[in-house]
Amino acid sequence: MPRPWLTGGAAEIAVHARTREQGYRPPADWTWLARVREAVSVPVVANGDVVDLQSYREIRRVSGCEQVMIGRGLVACPDLALVIQRSCSGEAAAAMGWESLHPWLVDFYAQVRERVVDRHVPGRLKQWLAMLAGVYPQARILFDQIRRQTCADQVAELLEQGSAAQLLAAPSSTC
Ligand SMILES: Cc1cc2nc3c(=O)[nH]c(=O)nc-3n(C[C@H](O)[C@H](O)[C@H](O)COP(=O)(O)O)c2cc1C
Repeated sequence: MPRPWLTGGAAEIAVHARTREQGYRPPADWTWLARVREAVSVPVVANGDVVDLQSYREIRRVSGCEQVMIGRGLVACPDLALVIQRSCSGEAAAAMGWESLHPWLVDFYAQVRERVVDRHVPGRLKQWLAMLAGVYPQARILFDQIRRQTCADQVAELLEQGSAAQLLAAPSSTC
């Protein structure tokens, strides 16, 4: 039976299907999303462990939710939402290639440099590359190249070279 007071007047709620103790430990239990959906009278946005088209379809099926929120999956595969949208409308769907993603990394790095003191800048890029590496082999190569670098200028140089032939020749992405 719906219990409206549970949502405290919210128009909709996003639910990450894990407890605080579970942290990010996989797997998220999506059956809880269906239980929450039945217990409240506002739309529930399903969240937790959506990393590709298959997991998107599966969370929709198990939860019965119409809307999905994606966190880390979008950091690792920045156009995943577009891939999903295209696939849902019957269009061909493939993640962007490294050559399209690379300028975004360069722009990200420039923006971080505007906001963060130099010694913390390389770490921000490493964090993102580490997450991209599961999808883009080129991100792993670049990560390994800058792993020990602490100088923001040197990392910028290596990043600029990140669209080089060696990286473009790596196998394509898989999200
Ligand atoms: C870059 C990033 C920033 C996040 N910021 C917040 C936040 O400000 N507040 C919050 O409650 N959760 C935040 N989260 C957690 C997500 O909302 C989400 O619940 C969690 O990552 C699980 O979903 P996922 O498996 O799709 O990553 C963040 C997650 C990521 C990846």
